[in-house]
Amino acid sequence: AGAPYLGGLLTQGQPGLLLRSGVPLPRPYQVRLPRPQVLAPVRSDATADHYEITQRPALLRILPGLDTEAWTYQGSFPGPTLVSRSGRRTVVTHRNQLPHPTVVHLHGGHTPADSDGYPTQLVHPAGGAAASGMAAMPGMDGMTGVTGTTGAVAMDSGDGGTQRTYTYPLEQRAATLWYHDHRMGFTGPNVWRGLAGFHLVTDDEEAALPLPRGERDLPLLICDRSFAADGSFAYPALDAAQTRPGVTTRYMDGVLGDTVLVNGAPWPVLDTDRARYRLRILNASNARRYRLALDPQPPGGGGLVQIGSDGGLLAAPVAHDSIDVAPAERFDVVVDFSRYPAGTRVRLVNRLGSGGTAEVMRFDLGGGAVADDSRIPARLSTISAPDPSKAVATRSFLFQKSAGGWTVNGEEFRPGRSLAAPRLGTTEVWRFVSDFHHPVHLHLNHFQVVSRNGGAPGPFDGGWKDTVDVQPAEAVEIAVRFEDYPGRFMLHCHNLEHEDMAMMADFTTR
Ligand code: C2O
Ligand code: CU
Repeated sequence: AGAPYLGGLLTQGQPGLLLRSGVPLPRPYQVRLPRPQVLAPVRSDATADHYEITQRPALLRILPGLDTEAWTYQGSFPGPTLVSRSGRRTVVTHRNQLPHPTVVHLHGGHTPADSDGYPTQLVHPAGGAAASGMAAMPGMDGMTGVTGTTGAVAMDSGDGGTQRTYTYPLEQRAATLWYHDHRMGFTGPNVWRGLAGFHLVTDDEEAALPLPRGERDLPLLICDRSFAADGSFAYPALDAAQTRPGVTTRYMDGVLGDTVLVNGAPWPVLDTDRARYRLRILNASNARRYRLALDPQPPGGGGLVQIGSDGGLLAAPVAHDSIDVAPAERFDVVVDFSRYPAGTRVRLVNRLGSGGTAEVMRFDLGGGAVADDSRIPARLSTISAPDPSKAVATRSFLFQKSAGGWTVNGEEFRPGRSLAAPRLGTTEVWRFVSDFHHPVHLHLNHFQVVSRNGGAPGPFDGGWKDTVDVQPAEAVEIAVRFEDYPGRFMLHCHNLEHEDMAMMADFTTR
């Protein structure tokens, strides 16, 4: 269990344990950008679409001449893309044929608690005792939970089975959502091994806009990974890390790879028309932040025109020269490649990276003029933001390192211990205070950023968010409205190593 620790210790400008691959890496810009397959429903009725996904190991060809064993949804990484119409129930049955228990969370979904993927609601391996190792102890599989708390809690096996059906009402606006593993104490290694995919929600408002569509509407799942000598995804085993002074701390800070994958391919290239493209950027990395920019910039700059955020369309477009993307955040941008001369090779680069992690992908522009009837309307949507002056409560959450892990308000995650109990039908202001970089994520509801350190929100805080990057020694205030769905939900850091090391808490709506 667990790939060998590979020994790289560079942090490349951001804290964390950088694993250096044990295989020679390809040069950037040798392979085509893959596009994740859209999953077809197994059946549809008047109000719902039903899907089936098998979670299973698969051998993927990511590096030249090497197979990478990944843990996948339906055999691919990223997993298949689901596309749902707002308000149509989407029912997804997941079967687990992996050697470990799993949990599925729809990130950004406005989902009732029983389908939200609570971290102890495990779907067990279909191989039973042989596959899971310890059938007598659901949830334990012979690996040490990195939180150290895993052994102390009763695991809720849901229907107790090897499959689970998640029902998503999707009564929410069009947005780029994603689904990923959420197993308590193991989300980092599970996502690193491949358990992540897109779930796009569309609606009438968005469909009526003249935005780029079809081949020119591109989901881009960006993540960093490292590879072990046998080609598998390398992820540190904690016991190996613990034997090396200084390494445990870096591992706690987050795991970083030396290879950037976009839709599962290392530094890919896309043959691109000189036309507008919609790029739905998702940072699916465990711990890495990116500052994405086009190189060269188009004449006059402002090449990345943001039209949407985690929770869908902004009210109006915002042009950026670069975009800071923390783990789990989505930025929906339009790039007008007709602003470049024919034949330009436009790189999407990461200004926070160095060497391989400074490169992301490349757009190789064609020669001639092409038809393009898309445009970016000056008004995209109407946002009725929650009014912070109407808040019935203001709550503070301190995200902080402790001796053994990471805490929220001094507490390590313990299932069932709720740190807040907001009432349905009310607005609250939540204040996130941080000792370090923490991308703070709220389940159930999207929110609006109200302030940073008492001042205005930052340039990347616009629109409906479900994840907000809180910088070291910063206080970020958000306003959130609780409308429906009573029950137990999560609030946590989306640096997956911080999450696994207990920086997570319940809140309970009532
Ligand atoms: Cu994307 Cu609670 O997670
Ligand atoms: Cu964190």
